[in-house]
Amino acid sequence: MKKILITGGAGFIGSHVVRLFVNKYPDYTIVNLDKLTYAGNLANLKDIEQKANYKFVKGDIVDAVFINDLFQTEQFDAVIHLAAESHVDRSITNPLDFVMTNVIGTVNLLNAAKNLWKPELGKEMTDKRFYHVSTDEVYGTLNETGMFTEETAYDPHSPYSASKASSDHFVRAYGDTYGLPIVISNCSNNYGPFHFPEKLIPLCINNIKNNKPLPIYGKGENIRDWLFVEDHARAIDVIFHSAKNSSTYNVGGHNEWTNIDVIRLLCKIMDGKLGREEGESAKLITFVKDRAGHDLRYAIDSTKLQNELGWKPSLQFEEGLERTVDWFLENEEWLENITSGAYQEYYQHQYL
Ligand SMILES: NC(=O)c1ccc[n+]([C@@H]2O[C@H](COP(=O)([O-])OP(=O)(O)OC[C@H]3O[C@@H](n4cnc5c(N)ncnc54)[C@H](O)[C@@H]3O)[C@@H](O)[C@H]2O)c1
Repeated sequence: MKKILITGGAGFIGSHVVRLFVNKYPDYTIVNLDKLTYAGNLANLKDIEQKANYKFVKGDIVDAVFINDLFQTEQFDAVIHLAAESHVDRSITNPLDFVMTNVIGTVNLLNAAKNLWKPELGKEMTDKRFYHVSTDEVYGTLNETGMFTEETAYDPHSPYSASKASSDHFVRAYGDTYGLPIVISNCSNNYGPFHFPEKLIPLCINNIKNNKPLPIYGKGENIRDWLFVEDHARAIDVIFHSAKNSSTYNVGGHNEWTNIDVIRLLCKIMDGKLGREEGESAKLITFVKDRAGHDLRYAIDSTKLQNELGWKPSLQFEEGLERTVDWFLENEEWLENITSGAYQEYYQHQYL
């Protein structure tokens, strides 16, 4: 019997991880801790919220006393830490929010785990785990060639990636200094169901549907490596259960696309789904002033994860994107509740 704390489980990736663990491991108790910021939405977990091995706790990882008390009360065996401020544009407007949640919040969790588990340096802890979920953006940017490996030096450029890099360093430091049993993974861009519609793909799906402009930064030449979110959740499952303490794994789809090509493909798929003439949705593409400090290219080498732990992505991008479009078209209410703000009023009142 294991009790696992998953932070940020009401967010995009976190909700997929919570669903996978609750359904796949009925013997585990999964506690989902989430502040329910604008990005947290418990509607993402409607299908599992009544399960006996699932519990939701509303709370802020920045509140050190609350976090420490929660660890002492619940006696967690493991943590999978996903809670974060995650949108680069918001980090440019409001960097301090990112320092608070991504850095201070992470250190609060590390301290609470250290206080509860009492690790000793040089003594391997095999029955506890602190798993920190991070991003490939900590590695900075690439030119046309090369890929990020686990050995690539950190070189973050946005306040978001700087805060995630800082949190990664703290997690490693707690492993090296106190013997905390830590693991980190750095993943490329995710897409799929429940993606918050401020991010490129869901924003464009919503705008194509509503015949609104599709804002593309610069000339749309920035390259990202896209991974279907359920493949990321599967990777987290494998790493959580099989990685050695203090190890790091890169997670990615070997699937590089320029932003403009992603949106052209999306327009083509949506033309078909909406019964529009091919090329009609692409007329909505509008180029806007580039994001400050915009990284040119990310590409993840996930060979280590594939060779050592046997994980590989299950979907081709075209198939994953079509599944994503289908999901958004079939779940209009979910999207409308977000764009109208209704999702926040409903759940915030329930958990005041
Ligand atoms: N989205 C991606 O493509 C991607 C890629 C690689 C890594 N990541 C990492 O994966 C994690 C999850 O990303 P996501 O896209 O699902 O993010 P998200 O923004 O969709 O969800 C974040 C969740 O964290 C919660 N949260 C925020 N601040 C909190 C706080 N102070 N206390 C408690 N909960 C808080 C939010 O309510 C939300 O539910 C993040 O750590 C992110 O850096 C994301």
